[in-house]
Amino acid sequence: SVDSTVSITVVGASGDLARKKIFPALFALFYDNFLPEHFTVFGYARRKLTDEELREMISKTLTCRIDESENCGDKMEQFLQRCFYQSGQYNSEEDFSELDRKLKEKEAGKLPNRLFYLSIPPNIFVDVVRSASRSASSPTGWTRFIVEKPFGRDSESSAELTRCLKKYLSEDQIFRIDHYLGKELVENLSVLRFSNLVFEPLWSRNYIRNVQLIFSEDFGTEGRGGYFDNYGIIRDIMQNHLLQILALFAMETPVSLDAEDIRNEKVKVLRSMRALQLDDVVVGQYKGHTKGGKSYPAYIDDPTVPKGSLTPTFAAAALFIDNARWDGVPFLMKAGKALHTRRAEIRVQFRHVPGNLYKRTFGTDLDKATNELVIHVQPNEAIYLKINNKVPGLSMRLDRSNLNLLYSERYPREIPDAYERLLLDAIEGEHRLFIRSDELDAAWALFTPLLKELENRKVAPELYPYGSRGPVGAHYLAAKYNVRWGDLS
Ligand code: BG6
Repeated sequence: SVDSTVSITVVGASGDLARKKIFPALFALFYDNFLPEHFTVFGYARRKLTDEELREMISKTLTCRIDESENCGDKMEQFLQRCFYQSGQYNSEEDFSELDRKLKEKEAGKLPNRLFYLSIPPNIFVDVVRSASRSASSPTGWTRFIVEKPFGRDSESSAELTRCLKKYLSEDQIFRIDHYLGKELVENLSVLRFSNLVFEPLWSRNYIRNVQLIFSEDFGTEGRGGYFDNYGIIRDIMQNHLLQILALFAMETPVSLDAEDIRNEKVKVLRSMRALQLDDVVVGQYKGHTKGGKSYPAYIDDPTVPKGSLTPTFAAAALFIDNARWDGVPFLMKAGKALHTRRAEIRVQFRHVPGNLYKRTFGTDLDKATNELVIHVQPNEAIYLKINNKVPGLSMRLDRSNLNLLYSERYPREIPDAYERLLLDAIEGEHRLFIRSDELDAAWALFTPLLKELENRKVAPELYPYGSRGPVGAHYLAAKYNVRWGDLS
């Protein structure tokens, strides 16, 4: 049989994402021997660079994170020798033909497979897909395209993008990334749930009072205001990262671990959800703040943000799944920039124990006595379960303490970056962690009416100081459903 080879072309090679995430992830895969024996990496962008200049540029962001030994330096050199550059316009079939010619040179005699990673702004997705698929598709092997959000701004623009992509590609050639699906603890969600008898039977409205999906960053949109202002936090984080976690969390048991079986269940649960109403959402925007002699800018101070912008940098929302398993259970989401801490977590608050023998010990605040399962997606990856326990001693005092699985202790080896997992899956043709077009449609259907209403009514975001815990409105929203945010209590 003929040897095969994989060429990975990073389109938009000089951009931030490519330099910070894609090339380092490819190197990490190479370092750990996960890349096929025959592979080449091409950078493609408008700038004129030589192969050497590309190598120079990406070598700055490659790290020997696993070991600092000389061996790593050698490996880096070997990797860089397999990296090449082609400059060209994004909409030029001639320029992609030139790439095709160079790819053929490297592929010499082997079965050529080609992966394109589009690390470019959304307004040129279709141009690149058109020219690259026409001029640089593999003649005999597979050709795949990885695309990353934003996939439109609403149902209509997303459907239009899908329609255009499908003129040139079939669904199985398209890998829509949501990098949260590549995070270790998100991938682990299904393992936790479906392989543990102590969790699976409890996973429903019968035992779960509410679920909280929390994303916060302790920095603002510095430098990305131009992109961000056109999207806002709901499109940037909720409609994709948090909703994907929700779908994995709440879906029914898939028939198997095959990509289509899993994605069928995700679509089903997304389609069982109620579209968001204005009443179920609180939006915020950070304002300038001085702390410890240091001053932090307001969102609107960013020169790339239009004056008077109402774009939310924070949002909290209550979502509901109208099916037998989850009827009435609030799924609360909260996402914000420029908050007091950086974290992403899932909190599952269980119901109160009926007829709790010890309830007097807890006074009237039974919330303090309920079990809570917390999944720390990042940083400090961990899973812990809050349980009630007797404080040792002669008096009967109860204490809620944690059964704690701390990854840094249990699994000291560094956790791979999400992009490593996802790139490897795309090379192997595994779609499990990528978004299918009907999932995307269902996700937009939930958020589009709300986004339009926010914009049409020009809803003013509640201002919160940079570095704070966000707008108080988020507490009122939770209280409306009898919930307290677990991260703040
Ligand atoms: C991106 C968003 O999708 O995710 C950014 O566009 C955000 O605004 C980023 O900062 C967060 O990713 P991570 O992996 O750093 O949590």
